[in-house]
Amino acid sequence: EKPESMSLYPLGTAAAPEPELLCIFGTGDLGRSLGQRLLQSGYKVVYGSRRPHSCGPVPQGAQVMSHTAAAQSASVVFICIQREHYGFLEQLAPQLKRKVLVDVSNNLRKNLYPEANAEYLQRLTPEAYVVKAFNTLSAWALQNGPSDSNRQVYLCGNSTEAKEAVTEIATRLGFSVQDRGSLSAARELEDFPLQLFPLWRLPLRLAFGLTAFFFFYLLTRDVIYTYATQKKDISFRIMVSLANKVFPIVSLIMLALCYLPGVIAAVFQLYRGTKYRRFPDWLDRWMLCRKQLGLLALAFAFLHVLYTLIIPIRYYVRYKIAASTIENQTSELDTTIAWRSDSYYSMGILGFGLYVLLGITSLPSVSNALSWREFSFIQSKLGYLTLFFCTFHTYLYGWDMFLRSSYYKWYTPPGYMLSLLVPSVVLVLKLLLLLPCVDRSLTRIRQGWERTEPQ
Ligand code: HEM
Repeated sequence: EKPESMSLYPLGTAAAPEPELLCIFGTGDLGRSLGQRLLQSGYKVVYGSRRPHSCGPVPQGAQVMSHTAAAQSASVVFICIQREHYGFLEQLAPQLKRKVLVDVSNNLRKNLYPEANAEYLQRLTPEAYVVKAFNTLSAWALQNGPSDSNRQVYLCGNSTEAKEAVTEIATRLGFSVQDRGSLSAARELEDFPLQLFPLWRLPLRLAFGLTAFFFFYLLTRDVIYTYATQKKDISFRIMVSLANKVFPIVSLIMLALCYLPGVIAAVFQLYRGTKYRRFPDWLDRWMLCRKQLGLLALAFAFLHVLYTLIIPIRYYVRYKIAASTIENQTSELDTTIAWRSDSYYSMGILGFGLYVLLGITSLPSVSNALSWREFSFIQSKLGYLTLFFCTFHTYLYGWDMFLRSSYYKWYTPPGYMLSLLVPSVVLVLKLLLLLPCVDRSLTRIRQGWERTEPQ
């Protein structure tokens, strides 16, 4: 415990104050975990149960009583019961008058009931002070106490004093509390645990959409086109050749999409002449999921590298090489081709190396160890460098293909050309933003300067 409490109650001179008694309704998993944690944190715990003598095991040191007796003995009551069983609380309303009721419940899906569980509880016990709290923690997290990733407790309620009482308890259990306002926020809190990877949803949809689009685009251009024009079946190319186009293309576009919102935000600030106006919602949401976007892009880049590594051992490639040896083609070494292919490999490798660095430094355990300046240096400066290397890799791979009409099958450009659109736009915009005069204005705006409109 805190050192100052030592000096307040020196050993042997005065008795420590009687520990506060808290009441828990419900002896299920959650009720038991919570009780154990409360006991460990120095509280006394009494359980309220329908069958006080046969309710199963409760943590050592806790008492079990009837609901009525338990409620009367404490000023804070944790309701660890399923919402369907709240009904009996209506009869207990007189005993629960002026008590703080902590609703920790959750639902199995959204919109199961017309009102939030905590609001329903308040309706049943109008003279109690209902506080919604702890529902985002699992029984496991409650029992084991807070960890780095699970320290936050959200609460809401209409009574400030009641919220303060719950905040004190949560703080003593080692959690940090965020007040989300009045009881009308309960619905939002009850929806929190039902969300499934909220920040991953948009990036995942985008990755899926882009992959599907490019798969069918390239399938048409490569396999179907060849079949339609030459009656040749090259569908085996789907597995490696096609995959090794789709994945890097999607990766490059998604990497560029991590940096596009930053550039758009800068353009907004320059245009408005201030940093104090909010960005549109879509831009905010986009900026918030950049990390997830980047990690998915990295996963796709990984696939591209793996697919590239196996090219030399593919049967098809070995067959081709053997066939050309049999034909005994001997041609001069073309140093331009050698330069070109080595350069694009090299750009790819450098880009991939930095890509991995970006991924590693975006992990919380690593980024927490970096200062803000170090983090932004890596994620921003090295990020643009990564984008540059990967884009350059693709330009060098394309080389002069864009000049040859044979590559525009059915009047469509090759996939890699499409993949270069977004990265090229981002890099050009970034270069424009780096022009000294533009950069100076932007820096001033970001330091708080505002352009005042002429009256
Ligand atoms: C294409 C190698 C990293 C984006 C290629 C190709 C090779 C290659 C051999 C030609 C594939 C083919 O013939 O179909 C490498 C190596 C890398 C690397 C060795 C690093 C170890 C990257 C990274 C990106 C990227 C990090 C960024 C996302 C692309 C793109 C294409 C391509 C967009 C064109 C795909 C197409 O339409 O054919 N790369 N690459 N590469 N690479 Fe990479």
